[in-house]
Amino acid sequence: MSFPKNFLWGGAVAANQWEGGWNLGGRGPAMTDVTTGGTVNTPRLITYIDKDGKHGTLKRGQKLPEGARYAVLPEYHYPNHNAVDGYHHYKEDIALMAEMGFRQFRMSISWSRLYPTGNETEPNREGVEFYRSVFRELNDKGIEPLVTIWHFDTPLYLEEHEGGWSSRSIIDKYVRFARTCFTEYKGLVKRWLTFNEINNTIQFLGMMQGLTDQAYENAYQQLHYQFVASARAVQIGHEIDPENMIGCMICGITWYPATCDPKDILLNRHEWEKNIFYCGDVQCRGEYGSYAKRLWNEHHVKLDCTPEDLEDLKKGTVDMYTFSYYMSQLVTTHQVRDRVGGNFSSGARNEYLKYSDWGWATDADGLQYYLEMIYDRYHKPLMVVENGLGAYDKVEEDGSIHDPFRIDYYRVHIEAMKKAIENGVDLIGYTTWGCIDVVSAGTGEMRKRYGFIYVDMDDEGKGSMARSRKDSFYWYKKVIASNGEDLSDL
Ligand code: BG6
Repeated sequence: MSFPKNFLWGGAVAANQWEGGWNLGGRGPAMTDVTTGGTVNTPRLITYIDKDGKHGTLKRGQKLPEGARYAVLPEYHYPNHNAVDGYHHYKEDIALMAEMGFRQFRMSISWSRLYPTGNETEPNREGVEFYRSVFRELNDKGIEPLVTIWHFDTPLYLEEHEGGWSSRSIIDKYVRFARTCFTEYKGLVKRWLTFNEINNTIQFLGMMQGLTDQAYENAYQQLHYQFVASARAVQIGHEIDPENMIGCMICGITWYPATCDPKDILLNRHEWEKNIFYCGDVQCRGEYGSYAKRLWNEHHVKLDCTPEDLEDLKKGTVDMYTFSYYMSQLVTTHQVRDRVGGNFSSGARNEYLKYSDWGWATDADGLQYYLEMIYDRYHKPLMVVENGLGAYDKVEEDGSIHDPFRIDYYRVHIEAMKKAIENGVDLIGYTTWGCIDVVSAGTGEMRKRYGFIYVDMDDEGKGSMARSRKDSFYWYKKVIASNGEDLSDL
């Protein structure tokens, strides 16, 4: 057994991290446009002007003070404004992807490029045409687009004035946006994901301490509105084009118990339920899992959930399960001396694993475990739509970039996928994260690079934006050409 003949090899980016052009072509702002850069030790900040005109900053999850409004402030650099300028470089980038032999490219549509405030009744034509050109370019080069409809970028207006995902009214606005995507790009795009890493809203809470029940209620409520929005989008997507294949997208952390204490084993099972199955069950099976009541009761959550919502969830199940995979985490009921965190999750350090410069564990066995566990649960086709190593790259005098650590990382993860396929998993695609260097979502840095393609741009936004090929570029090309058989060094 090996990778299927039509396996969808490729790479992935998101609009706000690749595209730039934040105020071009009629685009409205999103939260990332008022978010500064950070580092591995210092958080990204969200900037605002208060009611007296004073400048201020917030951390993720903190509330805007009464009377304040989000603002771009002159004393800060906002890395997502220009990102790596995919807006102007998309033809060049797609040509490089085609050179590697990509069969699929995952990207997202910026909601505020199509609906600048989220409230317009008609989409911004310039935005619609921009994505049409990108999809045409991909199709011309034999690369199928895989499109994420929402990748962390709700229009800022909806966040600031209408409560974002805390408000039921956002469901209709998202559905209008999704309908536009399905209608405009019918025939150009056939694979869609409704929400990126939808489970982060809950999983992320595990990284914080001293949270109130209200914080949990808000998170579960936001998720419920996203589930309904996703289910309605799935139904519309199928009506518009029955060939559309629509997936959920889960932040796939493999949770392990840190000890064999039965209390740890039980806690681990409950972590899977809360962090992973809660969303997958609703989106794949069309209803909340039996454990959901326990989760809500733990925090006295009262959900605004109507009988029509439950009907929609039933009718709008996804066609495939897609997920990101970067790491595993350890949970325990015992005291944790060394806590590690990464990608919206945290746990105890695992002495059997190696950690990156950003503290993310490399665990390819965890990917096999996740694939086998999830396939057995849902029996739907799977895709790994993000996987990769954020690392420093050094450009040599002659311009070459040697990244054997990245090749090693991919090799073990591709081997893990192969083993899962041998074990019966229906895995249909793999898009590595940040196939071209992009702005880091977590830290806003450029120095945390994932790409096969290097972009000359630093954390302060200085650089020529020139693209160049790393060693891993040639290696991945060889992997794709051999359909995953040749994983040897260059
Ligand atoms: C996932 C996101 O959480 O991880 C991506 O879907 C993100 O948007 C990726 O970029 C890697 O995280 P980071 O923080 O290294 O950019």
